[in-house]
Amino acid sequence: MYNLWYKNAVIYCLDVDAFMDFDGDGVGDFLGLTDRLDHIEALGCDTIWLLPFYPSPNKDNGYDITDYYAVDPRLGNLGHFVEFAQGAKDRGLKVMVDLVVNHTSIDHPWFQRSREGDPKYRDWYVWKDEKPADAEKGVIFPGVQESTWTYDRKRQAYYFHRFYKHQADLNIANPAVREEIERIIGFWLALGVSGFRVDAVPFMLEDLEGPDDGESPYGYLGQIRRFLSWRRAEAILLAEANIPMEEAGDYFGNDDRLNVIFNFPLNQQLFLALARRDGTPVARFLKALPEIPETAQWATFLRNHDEIDLGRLEEEERAEVFAAFGPEKSMQIYDRGIRRRFAAMLGGDERRIQMAFSLMLSLPGTPVIWYGDELGMGDNLDLPERNAVRTPMQWSNKRSGGFSTAKPEDCVRTPVTDGPFGYAHINADAQRIDPNSTFSTVQRLIRARRSCPEIGWGKAEVLEIDGPSVLALRYVWRGNRLVTLHNLSDVPQTVEITPLIEGCEVRPVLRAGIDIDRTGDGLTLKLGAYGYEWLRLEAETETETETETETE
Ligand code: NOJ
Repeated sequence: MYNLWYKNAVIYCLDVDAFMDFDGDGVGDFLGLTDRLDHIEALGCDTIWLLPFYPSPNKDNGYDITDYYAVDPRLGNLGHFVEFAQGAKDRGLKVMVDLVVNHTSIDHPWFQRSREGDPKYRDWYVWKDEKPADAEKGVIFPGVQESTWTYDRKRQAYYFHRFYKHQADLNIANPAVREEIERIIGFWLALGVSGFRVDAVPFMLEDLEGPDDGESPYGYLGQIRRFLSWRRAEAILLAEANIPMEEAGDYFGNDDRLNVIFNFPLNQQLFLALARRDGTPVARFLKALPEIPETAQWATFLRNHDEIDLGRLEEEERAEVFAAFGPEKSMQIYDRGIRRRFAAMLGGDERRIQMAFSLMLSLPGTPVIWYGDELGMGDNLDLPERNAVRTPMQWSNKRSGGFSTAKPEDCVRTPVTDGPFGYAHINADAQRIDPNSTFSTVQRLIRARRSCPEIGWGKAEVLEIDGPSVLALRYVWRGNRLVTLHNLSDVPQTVEITPLIEGCEVRPVLRAGIDIDRTGDGLTLKLGAYGYEWLRLEAETETETETETETE
């Protein structure tokens, strides 16, 4: 069996240009990141996913690439990347990079040659002589993007772009393009990465619809996976694929396509549950979660570098989440989402933020954390679109939050300087030494998560308890049994758990805001506002005594 590390990984996602600026030019870089690897290791994460760091005109935060085999010179060079990768390896951290091959920047030499009609590149993109009738449908960024087909004067034809018009879709049906994609994968694997976060997977497959080779478009995922595994057996594909659950089987295959898929629908139910202070939406979703191959995995998350996409909720449900977490128009985006940081949405309520982290870490899958959320960083809504959540990391209360020696206005994106989320109040230096800080709590939570492999491997069983505010889950895997309880509301709840633990010795793994009543034979938990508890259940033995490994 190859190494299934990703089943129990904790992934930390960051943007190199916003993490740490080493040379003082206002832009984060690989030397700065290498210098701050200790923060990620101390938090307890074991994998780093880097947002795109390749040469790019940066019109879509690096998702518009002009060279797949190099580093954006603002961030360093390949030598700096390798130094970083070595630093990560020395600390036992794995590195994943973004594979953005649905499209390239229109500044990419391939596109330039294609529009000139160069025979080698003619068919590398998706061209049509006439503008298709549905060109205004299916835009991904409504309000900012008008169409999916744009006229090119030089080629005198229309090119397809699922995203912005400066991002032309590669023609994946072309074998030469597929060969190049393998070359890109091989290149970064040779530099030591452990896998790829694959951008826009369902849109990559669009080109392969109506196949002429008798294979379904999903078969292409199998082709990439085979190449990847041949080159490096432990490497994985972590897909950005916001798909309905019924399609999961097609994407995972039989352990021969994608390894991990972000569970976007679960994320939306989680926000609905938080907005309602009621675990039912998540409970209902988990009960209907399809079986997936044992070696496949979901990725869970609170926030990422994009908007929270609420597109899969019913209209009234979406309105509830907007009302709770993004009531102002300036907080909403693309008619479907919220462009805010997690802590800001929760009004900086630390107890609630920490409970939500605990809840997310106890959901089935591999957790992914967006840099800065471990501190409860806020957003800068003055920045355009999704840049609001991509402000510089807040290391200290010094100028520009210790991110750079440059002035705040000279930084890559203006840091959050004022208000309760400004770096004077929220920064890593202060939180590291405060045992009650969000950082210290998330650190404990991650440690607990990593000691509970049953969450990564087992099936989440929803336990029936009184009252909808508490979500109770049980995992059973290879003799390990874990029960997690989270009170999503600000009203204390009393939960009688005796029937859930019958015949077992109870060993608390982690708790906050809980009182335990052991009167009589039973066990009653009083979960305070946003209280939570993780309990290990062990077969009862006469001699065993209860020991607490983690308490707050
Ligand atoms: C998905 C990425 O997460 C997003 O940031 C980007 O804008 C689109 N893909 C287009 O590349």
